[in-house]
Amino acid sequence: MLVSAKEMLTAAREGHYAVGQFNINNLEWTKAILLTAEELRSPVILGVSEGAAKYMCGFKTVAAMVSAMVESLKITVPVALHLDHGTYEGALACIEAGFSSIMFDGSHYPIEENIAKTKELIKLAEEKGISLEAEVGAIGGEEDGVVGAGECADPDECKMIADLGVTMLAAGIGNIHGKYPENWPGLSFDTLAAISEKVGMMPLVLHGGTGIPADMIKKAISLGVSKINVNTECQLAFAAATRAYVEAGKDLAGKGFDPRKLLAPGAEAIRATVKEKMELFGSVDRA
Ligand code: 13P
Repeated sequence: MLVSAKEMLTAAREGHYAVGQFNINNLEWTKAILLTAEELRSPVILGVSEGAAKYMCGFKTVAAMVSAMVESLKITVPVALHLDHGTYEGALACIEAGFSSIMFDGSHYPIEENIAKTKELIKLAEEKGISLEAEVGAIGGEEDGVVGAGECADPDECKMIADLGVTMLAAGIGNIHGKYPENWPGLSFDTLAAISEKVGMMPLVLHGGTGIPADMIKKAISLGVSKINVNTECQLAFAAATRAYVEAGKDLAGKGFDPRKLLAPGAEAIRATVKEKMELFGSVDRA
């Protein structure tokens, strides 16, 4: 059964560790992440962006696949299925489709509108017993080859959104999606400390987990980060392992072209990446 992310994140906030959100793209991705979480006895959040959901034939297909897989693989650790960077309409659709957690990203709206929309969704999420993540301060990233710097959220705005009763809060602290540029100045711990001071024990979410050095991850956790999102790093690991398989000519040997063989090294690489992150985040044996 899928669970809300509330309980696992409250425990993480109190226990000074973080739960990983790993984004999924297909069946192999989902299976690799679930098996790793089970092996390590770690709670886990499966993230699904609206684009990835469209690729996987819609929210309903994703919810059905994940629920069935949790049952068939006999997964016993807590698993939340979470909409990543949802629009208002996307969040409504996921609540209907059976997701156990949603993110409404209203960070691009003026704060009043972000508050109004977040408030409405909190009500609906509460009725269904699912968790809700809100965002303040847009998280940068690469768009059309231009890398935008990550914004730093206003701690007072964070407090306003936290007080609405969201489950967890994503706040920009200079983090960005995708690979970090050479000249990235690093996370703004002053901003994070100021936000943490305002919102108390609210679990904070760090997006753009790919490529953030281990010492920064640890410091962010010590300042209240309880959920860390990782996407690109699994994609890079999958692509590198698949490339190595093909470049070694293995797809040309015997039945090496069978997708169950061809995609296996990539799936193993995802498992290794997820394991490394769960160990770094401290979520192992916390299920
Ligand atoms: P990365 O792709 O940089 O790991 O970011 C993932 C993320 O924040 C998803 O919301």
